[in-house]
Amino acid sequence: MGSTVSTSVIKRLPRYYRFLQELMNNGITRISSRELSEKMGFTASQIRQDLNCFGGFGQQGYGYNVSELHDEIGKILGVDKGYKTILIGAGNLGRAIATHINFDARGCKLIGIFDINPQLLGVKVGNIEIMHTDSLARFCKDNSPVVAILCIPKASAQQIADNLVKFGIKAFWNFSHCDLKPTYNDIIVENVHLGDSLMTMVYGVNNLLPNKE
Ligand code: NAI
Repeated sequence: MGSTVSTSVIKRLPRYYRFLQELMNNGITRISSRELSEKMGFTASQIRQDLNCFGGFGQQGYGYNVSELHDEIGKILGVDKGYKTILIGAGNLGRAIATHINFDARGCKLIGIFDINPQLLGVKVGNIEIMHTDSLARFCKDNSPVVAILCIPKASAQQIADNLVKFGIKAFWNFSHCDLKPTYNDIIVENVHLGDSLMTMVYGVNNLLPNKE
């Protein structure tokens, strides 16, 4: 896929994908941009513009074929790619992510979980046994994972990330409360801060209830 599509459009695609999946689950086979906009809270013209970036899947007077659009967006996102993925830090968050995210449906395949705590060695998360971080280099050499999920404390995140880049990791889904150095060349970093999302909500509450202490 070309890199000319704006990041803001790309960020909306998973949402389209999810909504279209729900429509399919409800047996809906086609939808107009107006109906889609009512369901999603984007304007119809925003939707047409977004989808036009990829060649425009809609037909005048017909709307969008839900499953075709779903499949096309899935292809654009690469949900069928199964990129080999490892998770570092098998604490509360790491275990929750490993067990609750459907990686296979989102372009990744979780193949290894690592932790520095020797007591976790061999403990199973789902069907994967936790390995010690000492074996990371060997594992990466043998299995060539490309994605790493970081669920470790902030203090060790950058060091671990630097090592993982040396071991061939190309992308980070980083939960470790630090924004990884943006200076890596050709490495994708997606920093996730649930607290940011919470603050966005609080900002909304503040506007709704401006005088509330
Ligand atoms: P936790 O303490 O339950 O788990 C952390 C795990 O990381 C432990 O098992 C520990 O042994 C392991 N670990 C520590 N250093 C390591 C290293 N160098 N290599 C490999 N494993 C290492 O903590 P929890 O609740 O799972 O949170 C993990 C991190 O994620 C914390 O730093 C927390 O602040 C952060 N967090 C971030 C969120 C976000 O939205 N980005 C939300 C919740 C937590």
